[in-house]
Amino acid sequence: MTPFEYSHKFKKLRYLGSFMGRKLVHTNLQILYHCNFRCRICGFWHDFYQNTARLSLNQVKIISEKLNQIGPQIISIGGGEPLLHPEIVDIVRVLARCHFPVMICNGWFVTERIARELFSAGLDEISVSVDFADAMKHDAQRGVYGAFDRAVHALQILHANRVRPDQRVHMITVIMDDNLPEVEPLIRLCRKMGITYLVTLYSGSRGAKTLRPPVSDPSALLRRLKRKYNDFVALSGYLAGFSAAIRGEHPNRCYAGKNLCNIDNKGDVSLCIDTIHRPVGNILNEEAGAIRKKLVAAFHGNSCRSCWTSCRGSIETMMYGKAFIHSLLDYYRMVRAIEL
Ligand SMILES: C[S@@+](CC[C@H](N)C(=O)[O-])C[C@H]1O[C@@H](n2cnc3c(N)ncnc32)[C@H](O)[C@@H]1O
Repeated sequence: MTPFEYSHKFKKLRYLGSFMGRKLVHTNLQILYHCNFRCRICGFWHDFYQNTARLSLNQVKIISEKLNQIGPQIISIGGGEPLLHPEIVDIVRVLARCHFPVMICNGWFVTERIARELFSAGLDEISVSVDFADAMKHDAQRGVYGAFDRAVHALQILHANRVRPDQRVHMITVIMDDNLPEVEPLIRLCRKMGITYLVTLYSGSRGAKTLRPPVSDPSALLRRLKRKYNDFVALSGYLAGFSAAIRGEHPNRCYAGKNLCNIDNKGDVSLCIDTIHRPVGNILNEEAGAIRKKLVAAFHGNSCRSCWTSCRGSIETMMYGKAFIHSLLDYYRMVRAIEL
């Protein structure tokens, strides 16, 4: 076994322990808010955020070490546009020592060189956002001409430049009021490229779009598509929650604070990305144990059920869902190695 394989296995074992103990296992990390896109579903490109600082490499090191005291995390690196951070490769390398870094990007800045560097640094998974199969609609939604073409090209480059078979490349779509019919053509596009497909549900607290009630039953449609295409790898249990969530009738409580959390560009820790304006503490200035306790206290006091984004829904499905074995098989499809 190489030293890398040994430390990767050790990380996985520790993660499994945290998962079985239902501890904190997923952290969203906004390393900066700068963005070259002007998405209708997101407000982070407004002046209020654009004039704020980014996390330095040294601050990311501190965050990584403190999180490691709580337990290894899947760290979802986002923003803003994470590839605008000049130290992004080193950030991935630092996080990969103790955690599982994954990333969501808009695809604009992906080149062969950056793809190879990110994967060599230890990135486990990368998703590129694509919301419509129609290029003009995607560009309009993202506010930048050429966004669709660059995103699709990025997916091809990323898939071709992986350095380990278990590094996965996904397309991810935010399901909104007007793009359900786009899902099947997008899955077909992924199939052609040899990559896989994920969805997340629009959260109304961040964007300018309305949460119009669906004309059909989105859960039924999405689950039918999942049965039809094995390239569609979102968890069935997660998809099952879409219809109720859109109707505002989600039955379950939210486990943010207990199993997942958010850290922003100042090191402020909140339950989730929708509550960054109500931090429970700051991980750069406080001990890891104190942060964990504050998160758990906030979890107990939280009655919010308003979103059903994939970070929340996937963890809830895996940890608390009824069909654990089925979800495990589903999860395997999401992370299984795909030949280089
Ligand atoms: C905030 S973005 C940051 C990464 C990158 N700039 C991008 O566009 O992919 C991370 C993910 O959240 C999604 N997103 C943005 N606004 C959202 C909202 N209001 N509800 C749900 N997902 C949202 C994006 O489409 C993307 O898939």
